[in-house]
Amino acid sequence: QSKSKITAIGTYVPDRVLSNADLEKMVDTSDEWIVQRTGMRERRIAAEDQFVSDLAIKAVEDMVNRYGVTVKDADMILVATSTPEYSFPSTASRVQSKLGIVSTGALDVNAACAGFVYALQMADGLISGGAYSKILVIGAETLSKITDYTDRTTCVLFGDGAGAVLLEADESRPGILASTSGTFGEGGIHLYKTALSEKMDGEELKSGCLVQNGREIYKWAVRNIPDGVRELLDKGGMSPEDIDWFVPHSANLRMIEAICERGPMPLDRTLTSVEYRGNTSAASIPLALQLAIDEGRLKSGDNVLLYGFGGGMTYAGSIIRWM
Ligand code: ACO
Repeated sequence: QSKSKITAIGTYVPDRVLSNADLEKMVDTSDEWIVQRTGMRERRIAAEDQFVSDLAIKAVEDMVNRYGVTVKDADMILVATSTPEYSFPSTASRVQSKLGIVSTGALDVNAACAGFVYALQMADGLISGGAYSKILVIGAETLSKITDYTDRTTCVLFGDGAGAVLLEADESRPGILASTSGTFGEGGIHLYKTALSEKMDGEELKSGCLVQNGREIYKWAVRNIPDGVRELLDKGGMSPEDIDWFVPHSANLRMIEAICERGPMPLDRTLTSVEYRGNTSAASIPLALQLAIDEGRLKSGDNVLLYGFGGGMTYAGSIIRWM
């Protein structure tokens, strides 16, 4: 039984815009191809000296400015990222020191594009278990730093950004209504970036930048996410009509359309950040939530079904009642 709820949200994206027209000058692609296959028009790219902890901190500052909350007494920081600036110290440790939070735990969560939902679920578990009462949950990425800008099959997709939420104890009106997660590790070979090993299950890997078999991921996601969403609804004892907004990971708008065609949630109640942010991995879900708040679509009391999926392959979904 959950005893926590989200009490604030903030986001940040870097100033530099990378448009489809810019990409046309870099690789053999076209605005028409990118829009038709992905629905993307722009993405934001971090400056050379801007790393993931810098983006994470800006998102927290935005949250503090918007909601007037304090984070100095947070007792845990969880950062979901697959693009940390160091293997260690963790990004969460950098966030702790830069924000000057004196006494807090700090831990990174690596579940690629599902990372934000995983971190939210972990934070909910820690609070509901009674040991913690205020947790900073951040999804932040600088995918541009691991993208090969000579590879047209990946470089048109990814962008940088960060989103932060505050999760606080609330026994009387908890906001995390149901959660599920799963893994298909056999599919790990379809999306990776090497670190210490250059082989996976006996297969040689390409080292350096992010490597993706887009077609396989597309097929896997469209085949499996609709059933995952049904399973989550069942677990929460809810029907699609009980859900105001579906927020899948913003990987590709065409893929999301195909998921909605097969799934219980309709496209007209789906929120994304894909068109002007690209695929920002662990940041995409909080970015979509923030855009919907700013547009006046997402309102207090709405039921929202978050569903992250990505490299691993990993997936995680939670139904939340918006603060
Ligand atoms: N511009 C122009 N042509 C291109 C481009 C491009 N940017 N990229 C690929 N092409 C070409 C290919 O070379 C191919 O040409 P060919 O037929 O002459 O061989 C043709 O377009 C079709 O290529 P496909 O790969 O079959 O295109 P598809 O429709 O599958 O779209 C895409 C590719 C956009 C990558 C799609 O497969 C996709 O989005 N997959 C999912 C990716 C994803 O979600 N990744 C992340 C999930 S997890 C995470 O977020 C980290």
